[in-house]
Amino acid sequence: MADEKRTLTTSFGKPVEDDLNSITAGPKGPVLIQDAHLLDKLAHFDRERIPERVVHAKGAGAWGYFEVSADVTKYTRARFLSAVGKRTEVFARFSTVGGEKGSADSERDPRGFALKFYTEEGNYDMVGNNTPVFFIRDTMKFPDFIHTQKRHPATNLKDADMFWDFLSLTPESIHQVTILFSDRGTPRSFRHMNGYSSHTYMWYNAKGDYYWVQLHFKTEQGIQNFTREEAERTRGTDPDCATRDLSEAIKRGEFPSWRLEVQIMTPEQAKTYRFDPFDITKVWPHADFPPLTVGRLVLNRNPQNYFADVEQAAFSPGNFVPGIGPSPDKMLQGRLFSYHDTHRHRLGANYHLLPVNAPKACKVDSYQRDGFMRSDDNGGGGPNYWPNSLGGPAPDPGVATPPIDVAGMAARHSYQLSDVDFVQAGDLYRKVMREQDRANLVGNIAAHLGGAQKRIQRRQTALFYKADADYGQRVAKALGLSVAEVKRLAAMSQEERVKATAA
Ligand code: HEM
Repeated sequence: MADEKRTLTTSFGKPVEDDLNSITAGPKGPVLIQDAHLLDKLAHFDRERIPERVVHAKGAGAWGYFEVSADVTKYTRARFLSAVGKRTEVFARFSTVGGEKGSADSERDPRGFALKFYTEEGNYDMVGNNTPVFFIRDTMKFPDFIHTQKRHPATNLKDADMFWDFLSLTPESIHQVTILFSDRGTPRSFRHMNGYSSHTYMWYNAKGDYYWVQLHFKTEQGIQNFTREEAERTRGTDPDCATRDLSEAIKRGEFPSWRLEVQIMTPEQAKTYRFDPFDITKVWPHADFPPLTVGRLVLNRNPQNYFADVEQAAFSPGNFVPGIGPSPDKMLQGRLFSYHDTHRHRLGANYHLLPVNAPKACKVDSYQRDGFMRSDDNGGGGPNYWPNSLGGPAPDPGVATPPIDVAGMAARHSYQLSDVDFVQAGDLYRKVMREQDRANLVGNIAAHLGGAQKRIQRRQTALFYKADADYGQRVAKALGLSVAEVKRLAAMSQEERVKATAA
């Protein structure tokens, strides 16, 4: 109760008589070690910080629910999707990627779009971005890619050379680069952007038939972006603009919502589709796979405590429930390892017991025991091994993910760069963007790429040219490069281009 008088205690519950004055030897004397309350207060303060996320460090979160609006039992057996009108509690966290925990919300960057569904069959996490594609398509490249987007090892500055050196040596990034340097790279708020699974996932039904799916959470607030100039200004005037916007909108009762649309591909269609369905640098054009509206996400409650709910939230693309599973996407496969691993580093072995991460709609019954900071009953006196004949929990073969057919030589297979890698970036430039979008894209690229060495500018601009000749020419002109030279580089193979633009 608000007017109830509360007594301050130590962290172990002892009432504290004075929280302003340390115990000293005489009024001006040195502090005594017997002041256990002071020592505890300082020692805990000294340990307040935990490692920030290695990526997506700056973010905001909110609670809400997901409500099913269509019968999808034909495609998935997931119980939280089993009936129209069914609601599941959700926690959402939105973030920028490259910046540190105190960085500005309006930076040019993809935005993370992470959801935790507390279902009756365990927690399902959808850990996506506001872009339907990504820069690379093999996990092996991820740490390198992230290093180039962060700070230079010598200067500790953001560095246009390493940013564009890597991207121009990684042509499969062209589609995502085109999205990132459009105004979609600077969303006006977390409410005004879409969320995408980006990867292809598996849905499977009660009979074991499976489908490949891509998920799109479409903002019901409408897309709104900053222009480059607005984003730059806002970095100075309101660096926490998106964090503030989300919490204030919810406080006002304007609950942000998203419509979940799903694209569905059969395994037979996947075999012959013109784009590799497991290549995260590609979308499935809606004309080929029209989206089906499946439900609605609503965020209606702010966190009570940022650290407890948002900082400690730990998502993993490996948290599936029966009815949803992985695809062979090489990026996704690496992510299935990386998230639990990083959480063990950032939060500890028992991070799954923290309230925001623990299942809420089902009971955990596993043989995992012990570890730092065990905060549940640790399995009590029950058996801690399987198999046992003591009535402990038993696996249920009925929930298995359907087998898929894979074959081939175990080797480091590379994706061969092909002209198809430039098709969707070109289509985006020509068919989806309006003239104003194209002009802003070219201006945004020039403002950033202009900071890199000329040879890197030429190599990257040749990739824009390969996506679309007008796109390449306009970037070349904006950077003061020779269009003829860019055209010549664009006609080369990537290997030749790299040689021709060597340091
Ligand atoms: C192989 C590629 C990738 C690796 C190894 C990777 C790894 C990581 C790691 C280590 C974190 C920090 C997690 C934490 O400390 O809590 C993270 C966060 C995140 N990643 Fe990735 N990532 C990859 C690709 C992607 C892709 C393709 C997407 C989107 C489609 C994505 C979306 C996110 C999001 C949304 C977060 C923040 C989650 C949160 O809000 O706590 N990542 N990633």
